[in-house]
Amino acid sequence: MDQKVITIRQARRVDAESIAAVHDAAWRGAYRGLIPGCELERMIARRGPRWWDAAIARGSRLLVLDFGDAIGGYASYGRNRVSSLPHRGELFELYLAPHFQGLGFGRKLFEAVRADLVENGYPSLLVWALADNQPALGFYERLGGKRVRCAPEQFGRESRERIAFGFE
Ligand SMILES: CC(C)(COP(=O)(O)OP(=O)(O)OC[C@H]1O[C@@H](n2cnc3c(N)ncnc32)[C@H](O)[C@@H]1OP(=O)(O)O)[C@@H](O)C(=O)NCCC(=O)NCCS
Repeated sequence: MDQKVITIRQARRVDAESIAAVHDAAWRGAYRGLIPGCELERMIARRGPRWWDAAIARGSRLLVLDFGDAIGGYASYGRNRVSSLPHRGELFELYLAPHFQGLGFGRKLFEAVRADLVENGYPSLLVWALADNQPALGFYERLGGKRVRCAPEQFGRESRERIAFGFE
């Protein structure tokens, strides 16, 4: 049987193209019908390989799920950006390519993010998800997140609700 070594590691510049492809596929899968179509296209177009290369080059915290011959997902994280919430860290984005979803890899990436944040002095974390993104809400609740804040987010002329989950 083909034994694959699956690793979670910090992104390297050579990953930029693969991460952009995961971002494109995951965002279309998650947000088509939730975010206005032209806004979604604009957001995806902005996040091409050059954007990811620049993010990696400036040292952003970015983990990838590496299957050896493919990148299956990524997670970006850092300091919490909402000063009125006490959580120290924030998971900015966690996305898996559609065919890697539902297999336990989201939990693994989340745990790796948590471990790195804890190690760097950020014991609690926050993550935002769109209120209409039911699979994401179910996932963060299953992982033990508590709803701590609700806030609108603007997409062009339209507004969508988003929910913050706190992990103590
Ligand atoms: C959301 C996402 C990161 C979850 O990753 P995943 O690999 O599909 O989830 P996992 O298989 O690791 O699931 C982890 C646990 O959550 C549970 N879970 C997953 N989705 C769930 C849901 N919709 N409702 C309830 N529980 C759910 C699983 O059953 C599993 O439970 P267990 O570990 O106790 O058995 C992934 O599906 C994804 O990238 N989705 C599209 C993009 C997205 O919405 N990202 C989040 C943006 S905020």
